[in-house]
Amino acid sequence: MLLRKTYGIDLGSSSIKVYSFLRNKTYIEKNMIASRGRRIIAVGNEAYDMSEKAPADIVVNSPMAFGMIANLELQEITLYSMMKKIDRFLGIGSDMYFSVPLDMTAIEKRAYYHVVNGNWLRQNRVYMVEAPVADAIAMGLDLEKDQGSMLVNIGAQSTQFSIITGGKIIIAKKIPVGGYQMNEAICGEIRKRYNLQIGTRTAQRLKLAMGRLNDQRKDARKVVGIDSVSGLPREEVISGYVVNAGIMDCVNQIASEMKTFLERTPPQIAYHIAREGIHLTGGSTRLPYIDNYLASYTGFSFKLSDLYETSSVNGLEKIIHNRELSRWAQPVKQRKL
Ligand SMILES: Nc1ncnc2c1ncn2[C@@H]1O[C@H](COP(=O)(O)OP(=O)(O)OP(=O)(O)O)[C@@H](O)[C@H]1O
Ligand SMILES: [Mg+2]
Repeated sequence: MLLRKTYGIDLGSSSIKVYSFLRNKTYIEKNMIASRGRRIIAVGNEAYDMSEKAPADIVVNSPMAFGMIANLELQEITLYSMMKKIDRFLGIGSDMYFSVPLDMTAIEKRAYYHVVNGNWLRQNRVYMVEAPVADAIAMGLDLEKDQGSMLVNIGAQSTQFSIITGGKIIIAKKIPVGGYQMNEAICGEIRKRYNLQIGTRTAQRLKLAMGRLNDQRKDARKVVGIDSVSGLPREEVISGYVVNAGIMDCVNQIASEMKTFLERTPPQIAYHIAREGIHLTGGSTRLPYIDNYLASYTGFSFKLSDLYETSSVNGLEKIIHNRELSRWAQPVKQRKL
């Protein structure tokens, strides 16, 4: 019997996550593309490795911005090059399950359709699952119950709040703040205090090494940057305190938006959310103690998922395996768009 190939795909601003049914495995690769003029130099992890190290005429970019497809053609290339590595894939005639943002316009939906029905990837069937629904399925929540559950996904360039009751997302909000903005805030903090300019990739390294939201350990790292005044390279020792001051700015912004969001939630639902706890996921929730910090800011309790950045793709995997869950996946036909 000829088995149809099936994939679950989560296109993120920082990385693509692909679940292959054939291999029963999830793959993660950076969603980056390096180009010189119109020529593509590198794709995926290789492109990410070039960022901030390559000559100035090579530009490294993500085809996604703030959780939306920003460049369709480049997105198709990054996805195709990744799929080719997974299954020696020809890119024709598969079932593609996407986790997608809420409230997409017809044009944005069409972008998802065209990413797998373009020049390289062709004749693929497309199914869309709303990302918070995929997250909820991954975390094993009962979507049909009436009391309401709240989910928060903190990704690379966006944070999504959503409340699900009775099988529907009834209230949702997305803000353009995530891990990337934390990296930028760290750069800003270092520029302000030391007159030193560092790249966002160096900032990310500092964040991974020293970011933590409880009382600080005495920790420091050496970085090399460009002196803002002289324009010459300079070395500086950066303490964890400075790194966390930058991160804290972003986390406070997320926490304050969350508080406003909760204040606008109908009281019966908010009451149940308070009892159940808010479900927290996304790559940026790897930041140590973020759940405790958000709890003390908002007064609600949090349940941190151990799936982090893979929760959406894990939800897609469950949908692909379980017929009962397949009603959460909407088939998309081009003529309907
Ligand atoms: N240990 C860690 N501490 C803090 N942040 C982390 C850690 N590990 C990963 N991150 C951050 O998680 C982010 C990636 O998360 P995720 O994969 O969920 O985002 P995405 O799905 O690509 O983006 P989006 O959903 O916004 O489009 C990156 O910004 C990365 O810096
Ligand atoms: Mg994401």
